[in-house]
Amino acid sequence: MSGWIFFGVKLLHLLAMALWVGGPVIAVVGVRKRFAAGGAVATATVEQLLAVTPVFIAAALTTVLSGAALIHLSGGIARVAPRILIGAALVVPIFAIGGGLNRRALLGLRDHFAAGGDGASAERLIARFILAHNLEQALRVTVLALMVLPF
Ligand code: HEM
Repeated sequence: MSGWIFFGVKLLHLLAMALWVGGPVIAVVGVRKRFAAGGAVATATVEQLLAVTPVFIAAALTTVLSGAALIHLSGGIARVAPRILIGAALVVPIFAIGGGLNRRALLGLRDHFAAGGDGASAERLIARFILAHNLEQALRVTVLALMVLPF
């Protein structure tokens, strides 16, 4: 029975992390071009990114909670490989970059385009948003690598 519970929680962990790692990659396809276009296209792009954010936050929280449950079901922190714990700790900077840099850049872009600003003058915010996305993604892939290392 406990084997099936572990299986179920691990399946949830993998589904949630797949959405958290893969979702943002798809969400940002073509955004630089659409932001640069300015006007209604850029505004719709910001709104779309803001609308999809809660889905990624839910996936992130599900990944963290199911991960914590896996640690518990494995017998506690002392029983888990250090690579898993390092990976779990890296989730903190991911959240910090997401909330501090990524979201702020997006809200800045929304204000910028709502005030009639064009794509060219939004370049600094666009660069900041893409940098934050790339940093988050690099950390997520690092955690993924740590979770699946064969030792
Ligand atoms: C970006 C975030 C994360 C990703 C991409 C991720 C991915 C994965 C993957 C792919 C596995 C399966 C490894 C395998 O069976 O070879 C795994 C296992 C595991 N993850 Fe995560 N994980 C993430 C975050 C977390 C967090 C935050 C925790 C803890 C709070 C955690 C705890 C665990 C544990 C304990 C296992 C081992 C399960 C076992 O013994 O089979 N993970 N993770």
